Amino acid sequence: MAYELPPLPYKYDSLEPFIDEKTMKIHHDKHHASYILKLNQTLKNYPELQDKPIESLIQGLEDVSEEIRESVKNNGGGHLNHTFFWSILTKKLIFKGEIFNEIDKTFQTFENFKEEFTKSAMNVFGSGWTWLVLDGNQLKILNTSGHENPITHGKIPLLVIDLWEHAYYLKYQNRKNEYIESFFNIINWKKVNELFLKYKI
Ligand SMILES: [Fe+2]
Repeated sequence: MAYELPPLPYKYDSLEPFIDEKTMKIHHDKHHASYILKLNQTLKNYPELQDKPIESLIQGLEDVSEEIRESVKNNGGGHLNHTFFWSILTKKLIFKGEIFNEIDKTFQTFENFKEEFTKSAMNVFGSGWTWLVLDGNQLKILNTSGHENPITHGKIPLLVIDLWEHAYYLKYQNRKNEYIESFFNIINWKKVNELFLKYKI
């Protein structure tokens, strides 16, 4: 068994005008696909790792042989992070749920949360991701670099933005702040709320 590229859960142009069709096509069909290809190559001689759910593989990175650990972290992380990223994006959606009460409780107002998240995302240097996670029962914003995923450190991802240039450069070039602003129009809060309710203690 080898890892396979899951189809996008919507059409390539579904997130227009916030993320354009061409970016989505290249991002999913080329970048995400290449992480899976490289992950499968890396695991060629490790059949016992090929059947693991990708979350378990990344959660248990310490158990992976040192020889391939860096590649599994980068390419397995690339697969996991992108699969998660696609899942928390959607066409415009009106949704109310408990996650917003928790955001108010933690960050005082939604606007404060948005401001902190944006600031954190703007501070990602080079390629990385900004996450909203559950750390125990606490909502936190954190950054990871490369394709590191917070589950490696026991934190549960609820929301993420891909800040690699390949995620936005075609449309936004150096205007990373506009890309982050646009991202707030296409968050699948229904999905984020489901994850919050599932994993809060
Ligand atoms: Fe990406």
